[in-house]
Amino acid sequence: MCGIVGYIGKQQAAPILLEGLTKLEYRGYDSAGIAVYHDGALEVAKAKGRLEVLSEKTDGGKKLVGTMGIGHTRWATHGEPSDVNSHPHLSMSGRFAVVHNGIIENYISLKKKLTDKGFEFISETDTEVIAHLFEYYYKGDIMDAMIKVINRVEGSYALGVLCSDYPDQFIAVRKASPMIVGLGEGENFIASDVTAILKYTRDIYYLEDNEIVVLKKDGVQIFNSDKEEIKKEKFTVDWDVSAAEKGGYEHFMMKEMEEQPKALRDTISPRIKDGKIVLDDISLTTEDIKNINKIHIVACGSAYHVGVVGKYVIEKMCRIPVEVQVASEFRYSDPIIKKNDLVIVISQSGETADTLAALKEAKNHGARILSIVNVVGSAIANASDDVIYTWAGPEIAVATTKAYSTQLAVIYLIATYMAEKLGMLTSGEYANLIAEIESLPDKVAKILEAKEDVQYLASKFYNCHSIFFIGRNLDYAVSMEGSLKLKEISYIHSEAYAAGELKHGTISLIEDGTLVVALATGQDLFDKTVSNIKEVKARGAVVMGVTTEAHSDMETVADYTVKIPTTNEMLLPSLTVVPLQLFGYYVASLKGCDIDKPRNLAKSVTVE
Ligand code: F6R
Repeated sequence: MCGIVGYIGKQQAAPILLEGLTKLEYRGYDSAGIAVYHDGALEVAKAKGRLEVLSEKTDGGKKLVGTMGIGHTRWATHGEPSDVNSHPHLSMSGRFAVVHNGIIENYISLKKKLTDKGFEFISETDTEVIAHLFEYYYKGDIMDAMIKVINRVEGSYALGVLCSDYPDQFIAVRKASPMIVGLGEGENFIASDVTAILKYTRDIYYLEDNEIVVLKKDGVQIFNSDKEEIKKEKFTVDWDVSAAEKGGYEHFMMKEMEEQPKALRDTISPRIKDGKIVLDDISLTTEDIKNINKIHIVACGSAYHVGVVGKYVIEKMCRIPVEVQVASEFRYSDPIIKKNDLVIVISQSGETADTLAALKEAKNHGARILSIVNVVGSAIANASDDVIYTWAGPEIAVATTKAYSTQLAVIYLIATYMAEKLGMLTSGEYANLIAEIESLPDKVAKILEAKEDVQYLASKFYNCHSIFFIGRNLDYAVSMEGSLKLKEISYIHSEAYAAGELKHGTISLIEDGTLVVALATGQDLFDKTVSNIKEVKARGAVVMGVTTEAHSDMETVADYTVKIPTTNEMLLPSLTVVPLQLFGYYVASLKGCDIDKPRNLAKSVTVE
């Protein structure tokens, strides 16, 4: 959940590090720091708070002279946000400076050992242990020290390490935390994410666990933990710089919502050829699909909500039982996975700790893993048998929008693909579904064009203290996402309820003026949800109904109505979610919240 960047080259390092950190701030934003090598010593600047504080303190980095350095933006785990707990951490003599993303699980025993040996700790972090360990193991060769350190620490780490004895190189490693190496002309980089270095290079190396990289101005070498050099394939990123910039928008979240039609097109179009869904990316044969006994979908947060839609859609279309579970529960549930079960793992970042651990747990039980991931080369993608990438591009806002939408699109592609292979669709139904999937980008664009209507509704309700989202089946799945979107960025308490379940207890919370957002998009359950709307209205609720253009009855029962275009019922969540994303955004905006960086959160949750 922290962001790391490192630079070596001919230019002044600190401004480049600060600039890189601005692109990584979504990973953590409670404090930041940089360390630069200059004239035989390491100079460090740190500051609690947003990156601007550090930038002001160092005059945009100009105060730190030197052409090699490392930087860090933090999401606190061990120790509160403070200057002293910020990274980089120095070893006792000041010879080593370390930035770290991840968790050192055995840091207490290591701290004790080092304290017994006379090392003094000034911070509450697990990372300081690493800085002191480097000093403890260092006998004049930084690579030897690195190997000893990684053999000694347990947990997850991406590390960037400067040593004052090495004026022309720095060293880095990763295990279960992301880090890429950027290859420039006369300059090289490390970063938690390509967005931090995209301005300088698109040529990168993905590092495997415990591969150690030595970066010099004119070259990069990668070694395994036996000190043997490894040759790696260079990867060229095709995102352009603007993909990771706000581009005139006030917030990344709005930019990313607006990007949904393109992200959907990029995800769907390459997978439809000559009127057929072609999933070149996966190795599941028709025989494999016919043999699937059960599907488990595992994910966290919004990705889990995609899984809930997936359950309804796959069960309905393929008649294969689907169980969907949050990854943090699945991993400790001793899951029952039988032969021919398929596990679908969904993750934007591809590095969510709980999801990755759940994947490993499933693998230990012999499951075959198909993952839906946005970040190419991420840990979850690497650990899966098959990966279908969502081509959403970089998602910076903490609240996911375009990643959610593209994950949903992939679920539709998988369900339709499997249903066809299983003989569950007539050729007409198959063609119709494909046409509807292909029409989703335009329909989402149409909803976005009318965003001012949702803004108006937000202006009526942004002072609410509590908001309920209700729906049945697929509408319930989307209610969950609508509720999460609202609460995570606006801090308004909100709950999603299966519309029919409300009367079994929670309806007691409905009082005069409580806003209930009622989703009733499908045909079969429309009247059932209308009955639930009447129940809450009878208890004083104000209702905002969300339905399709096909339903004219909503206006007669709801106080306010939002209409979405029609499509195949299975695909409606792709459309229903958009006004809910907009509603959360506008409410948060009217409340003056920090939309892209909501309190207590970070984009990639790499801790348990
Ligand atoms: C909410 C949100 C989170 C993520 C969750 C999983 O807007 O973004 O709930 O969906 O943390 O993250 P990934 O998809 O990266 O595994």
